[in-house]
Amino acid sequence: MTFTKPQYEFIRDVKTNILAFIGGFGSGKTLAACYKGFLLAGLNLGTAGMLVSPTYAMLRDTTRRSFLELLEEKEVGFTFKATENRIIIHEFSSEIWFRSADDPNKLKGSNLAWVGLDEPALMHKDAYLIGLSRIRDPKAKRKQMFLTGTPEGFNWLYEEMSESQDEKKRMIKSSTEDNSFLPAEYVQTLYENYDEQLVKQYIKGEFVLLNKGQVYYSFDREQNIKDEAYNQNLPLILTVDFNVSPMSWAIIQTYKDVSYVIDEISLNNSNTETAAKQFRARYPNAPTLLYGDYSGNQRHTSSLTTDYEIMQDIIKPLQVNVEPNPPVHDRVNAVNSRLCNSLGKRKLFVHSKCKEAIKDFEQVVYKEGKREIDKSDIMRTHISDAIGYFIEYEYSLKGKPQITHRFR
Ligand SMILES: Nc1ncnc2c1ncn2[C@@H]1O[C@H](COP(=O)(O)OP(=O)(O)OP(=O)(O)O)[C@@H](O)[C@H]1O
Ligand SMILES: [Mg+2]
Repeated sequence: MTFTKPQYEFIRDVKTNILAFIGGFGSGKTLAACYKGFLLAGLNLGTAGMLVSPTYAMLRDTTRRSFLELLEEKEVGFTFKATENRIIIHEFSSEIWFRSADDPNKLKGSNLAWVGLDEPALMHKDAYLIGLSRIRDPKAKRKQMFLTGTPEGFNWLYEEMSESQDEKKRMIKSSTEDNSFLPAEYVQTLYENYDEQLVKQYIKGEFVLLNKGQVYYSFDREQNIKDEAYNQNLPLILTVDFNVSPMSWAIIQTYKDVSYVIDEISLNNSNTETAAKQFRARYPNAPTLLYGDYSGNQRHTSSLTTDYEIMQDIIKPLQVNVEPNPPVHDRVNAVNSRLCNSLGKRKLFVHSKCKEAIKDFEQVVYKEGKREIDKSDIMRTHISDAIGYFIEYEYSLKGKPQITHRFR
């Protein structure tokens, strides 16, 4: 096996107490973690070490799977105890325990020689602290805590690893592009789908301050305002937020993979029926695809008809494309990446008459020092939320491009 330069640096360092490999998507982090675990199992004969993933599904589908592939490739004799989720490597009489960090308290237990966290930024800091406290096996010759993952803003991982870099702590960085074993189109797809800030984080593997200031930082009024006229040959996309005041709906049309916000409905002290009638007054017979806020259905639990039923009756949409509301930052990342990708290509435009949408894109900000969006101005966030439900539904970034075949 030939390693990338950062992988090699990471795997061969068995002296630093806490060692991190921070890299972009597909930079070879999990593979490096597996080699490192294997190496430490061999250096610490007759001991146990633990490999941890954020969730059980990630453990099963990536970390543990890569580890089993490595053992098979190396033709190493091992026993896999599935019910206990551990592997015994015969030659070393060493064990590797596989655990998920869903509930960090479950990581507590007996002495270990080493602990590896794959994607630590997606775990609670307790997983790291509990992991550290377990590396205390007196039989171990090379004790080590190692972390392999993508940065996620300036969270605990940044604070832990950015401080001192000495014999106790060290961070090795890697870009996706360091991994020449990836199919060429993988990196290209990332550049196309992600905006510049996200590219810094998810390809270059840098810590980026994503949650500060303007939420829709990719919006540029010189570039993203375009007066595209209504095209009667195409269906309308109606995407809604069910806030009562203002009730905020956006009307969009998409062609050639580019979306144009051509109109908006923003009504104070209104209701779904009034807004739906207004929509049909403006666009009497247009075939319509409906998207929007999932909570619409639950808001009026006391009334017999839900928002979506009212809309079905009045608007008669061709489709209703509604899914449980995604995490806010997923939606925001998807909108920013459509407003402008890292290559400078824009795929979301707003008509100059859509004053509320433009105000939202320019004025919605994060609360000072928090990851939360500031909602103190009651007029703000609703129409951009509405647009975001559609964008997230159709152009979600979750589930980064899959690496289809494995390279050896
Ligand atoms: N040194 C290497 N030699 C050959 N193939 C490699 C090497 N390092 C990584 N790969 C391959 O590159 C792909 C990505 O590796 P890996 O899954 O370890 O990356 P990752 O950074 O953990 O990715 P993700 O961001 O998806 O978690 C895999 O197909 C893996 O087999
Ligand atoms: Mg991985």
